[in-house]
Amino acid sequence: MEATRQPVLSVNNLEINFKTDNGILKAVRNVSFELYEGETLCIVGESGSGKSVTSKTIMGILANNAIIQGGNIMYRGENLLEVSEDEFYKIRGHKIGMIFQDPLSSLNPIVKIGKQITEAMLLNSDKLKLMYNDLISDDLIRYKNTLAKMNISINNERKRVAAAIAEIKAKGTVSADDKAKIAKMKNDLKTFEKETRATFEKQADEYKAKLDKTQKEAKQKVKEYKAKVDAEYAETKAAIHAKGLDRDALKQELEKAEIDYQNKIKITKAEAKRRAIEIMKEVGIPDPEKRYEQYPFEFSGGMRQRIVIAIALTASPEILICDEPTTALDVTIQAQILELINRIKKERKLSCIFITHDLGVVANMADRVAVMYAGKIVEYGTSDEIFYDPRHPYTWALLSSIPDVDSKEKLEAIPGTPPNMIYPPKGDAFADRSRYAMNIDYREEPPFFKVSDTHYAATWLLSEKAPKVEMPKIVSERIRISLEGGKQ
Ligand SMILES: Nc1ncnc2c1ncn2[C@@H]1O[C@H](COP(=O)(O)OP(=O)(O)O)[C@@H](O)[C@H]1O
Ligand SMILES: [Mg+2]
Repeated sequence: MEATRQPVLSVNNLEINFKTDNGILKAVRNVSFELYEGETLCIVGESGSGKSVTSKTIMGILANNAIIQGGNIMYRGENLLEVSEDEFYKIRGHKIGMIFQDPLSSLNPIVKIGKQITEAMLLNSDKLKLMYNDLISDDLIRYKNTLAKMNISINNERKRVAAAIAEIKAKGTVSADDKAKIAKMKNDLKTFEKETRATFEKQADEYKAKLDKTQKEAKQKVKEYKAKVDAEYAETKAAIHAKGLDRDALKQELEKAEIDYQNKIKITKAEAKRRAIEIMKEVGIPDPEKRYEQYPFEFSGGMRQRIVIAIALTASPEILICDEPTTALDVTIQAQILELINRIKKERKLSCIFITHDLGVVANMADRVAVMYAGKIVEYGTSDEIFYDPRHPYTWALLSSIPDVDSKEKLEAIPGTPPNMIYPPKGDAFADRSRYAMNIDYREEPPFFKVSDTHYAATWLLSEKAPKVEMPKIVSERIRISLEGGKQ
């Protein structure tokens, strides 16, 4: 199952810093994850853990003082961190949509709702262009993917070799033996690069040839379509003229024919409106025709969030990023919006990144969960693995802090505060706040330990040498109760 699932988006070793008056703040530290087709991946962590910075990086809307220190974000064969502004805009508007916590901030207060929904549709309204892009997209992506894979593979090897050489040099004196080793590494790297290029380029050439052919065919198809539509239009006009109508009737029929014609080659205002109202219905806005003419202030918080979702949907995105979309809403409305997101996700077969500080919200949304702390992912796994077999003390702490409705158990606040990310702690960043911390946690960063094929946690507790510790009772009790409940 796993092997056949395709990632639609992959974030690799992402490092994002911010320049601040007090120094460089490390907001996202070596974050990697994959988003698979059709799944919802929840990213959960306390405020300040780097969730929004991660999602904003994907959307290309980082603040000006941000420094992209490293990593890549691969989407359809492109590294989103490298694509041109123009291309990025297309992807951002089209294929990746985003919903924020505060719907007001993403709506323009002085523009009518209808206009805000149709804006993006009218911006990319050339149907011939859309048709062409559609026809070539599979071949184009396959070709670009191959080149991207080649570059990543070469870059990774370069980095690995550079790090190995740096390590040798860091020891101080470099012996003749070391020098020989370094020379050999450099030489091996060259061979690796050459061979990698050869393999990939052969493949890429093949795909390029196919792409060229597809592009030619697509151009031809679009041309034929346009010619056919033009011919039909000319015929229709001739037929109308032949009817011998009076002036007004003639004018009316010609206008109608022109609208039909325009509709075939571009998204017209009328069509955009029709689509907008359809989408407003889809997201559960009552009386959409009337609402279309209203301003944001005339909507409740929940309804505004529905509008923001509608706007994101107009572009038929493939990926939807929801950053705390319900945090500003009260509980009943929150439940409705979550239900809406889940329904839309299923109906439109979207892949979804759902960001929240509240693990309680995650249970009903996630296929997989990534837990973030101090700019890093500290544990990830399937929803079941995170809820029923959590391994990182920070995940335990998050689970303990979910208020439990059934048992009325008092929630345990996580002690202490998140670290200052200008001076991120050495080792396990959560050590200071964890009653399970060991000496090594203050010295060395824990690697990811494998729990299952889908479940990894970066905690020294999973090392063979660590003492056996039990998760907090409040967590194990809840797991026991909910598992028993599930079996009844
Ligand atoms: N423009 C900025 N300048 C400086 N620091 C920032 C900026 N944006 C975010 N940060 C910092 O980056 C860290 C991660 O923030 P963020 O991703 O917004 O957290 P959250 O997980 O709550 O969404 C925080 O320490 C935050 O203060
Ligand atoms: Mg945030």
